[in-house]
Amino acid sequence: MAQQADITAMRRAVELAARGLGATSPNPVVGCVITDASGHQVGEGFHRRAGGPHAEVHSLREAGVLARGGTAYVTLEPCNHTGRTGPCAQALIEAGIGRVVYAVGDPNPQATGGADTLRAAGVEVAQGLLDDEAEAVNIAWLTSVRRGRPFVRWKYGATLDGRIAAADGTSRWITSAESRADVHRLRAESDAVVVGSGTARTDDPHLAVRGVEGAVQPLRVVVDTEAGAVKPGARVLDDAAPTLIAIAEDATTPVGGVDVVRLPRAGRGLSVPALLDALHTRGVRSVLLEGGPTLAGAFVAAGAVDQVVGYLAPVLLGAGPNALAGGGISTITDALRLDITETVRIGSDLRITATLKGA
Ligand SMILES: NC(=O)c1ccc[n+]([C@@H]2O[C@H](COP(=O)([O-])OP(=O)(O)OC[C@H]3O[C@@H](n4cnc5c(N)ncnc54)[C@H](OP(=O)(O)O)[C@@H]3O)[C@@H](O)[C@H]2O)c1
Repeated sequence: MAQQADITAMRRAVELAARGLGATSPNPVVGCVITDASGHQVGEGFHRRAGGPHAEVHSLREAGVLARGGTAYVTLEPCNHTGRTGPCAQALIEAGIGRVVYAVGDPNPQATGGADTLRAAGVEVAQGLLDDEAEAVNIAWLTSVRRGRPFVRWKYGATLDGRIAAADGTSRWITSAESRADVHRLRAESDAVVVGSGTARTDDPHLAVRGVEGAVQPLRVVVDTEAGAVKPGARVLDDAAPTLIAIAEDATTPVGGVDVVRLPRAGRGLSVPALLDALHTRGVRSVLLEGGPTLAGAFVAAGAVDQVVGYLAPVLLGAGPNALAGGGISTITDALRLDITETVRIGSDLRITATLKGA
């Protein structure tokens, strides 16, 4: 049984890890708390950005000599390899840490082995404390390592009768101002925000983060097979954030020097796996898919949606497109079943978060 003091320290480490969301890719988010030999907290830290010091190093610096004989609580197994910074397992040993408690094992083949190194140096090591919470905060990075592609969170805002736009295509606004502000937080936690050419044509979306202090802007991506939807002057082309237009290998190069990636065609539009592969190669570990329904359907059909975040507004439209189109499901036995992991009231709306069963 874990002691309450251990739980308190690890919960703080998870909170700290969350502060790095959206800023650390291609690295994980990691939080660390250090207590001295008598159990008092003497250091804490988190990984702030790729290339910068790891969470353990920030915490050890704060703890100084008080770390000797103390305990380090880390949300992810301390790394064992020298990348842009030195191995954390070694730094903990050199600081004289007596015990290391970590939540989740490192699945990255290059970095794993930290626990073994610590044990070999005589450090007491325990794994698994609050592993559910630590896994949840790092789900994007963990998914990207396990699947070899970015984590995909599909977000939509719908009426209570499931419509994401009116019959004439207008959709501003279905959800409350509070929900829309919350979407900016989701964008800030993501490395890339993706929409289809239909949404680019209808809404001329901006897709950058507004109103989130210290946010690292995500890469704005428009999936525009024929390179015809993003016209010069489109809001997505301003300098608020970087932008990438995914176009077909044989499409005409768009004017205006915009950054493009050429991808193979699929049955309709572009290959979703090729898109995710191209984004992964660019360091993207988490994608916020903001629609519309046609592109979301293609992602679902490709098995490329890991989490669904639906904002349901107390609004009825009676006509207009549904949240999802053409997900490749024609009979009830093929329906995708999800587990609801969270429901929250946001303004006048309900935010429902769900993951695929068994994912
Ligand atoms: N309420 C919400 O949360 C929300 C969010 C977003 C959008 N919307 C609404 O949704 C509507 C637009 O939705 P939409 O379904 O027409 O457009 P969409 O999903 O944004 O874009 C669909 C287009 O993407 C392109 N595409 C590229 N690769 C594809 C692939 N593998 N599979 C499918 N399509 C691919 C296709 O056109 P090309 O091949 O010609 O490029 C396709 O027609 C608008 O009314 C907008 O206001 C609502």
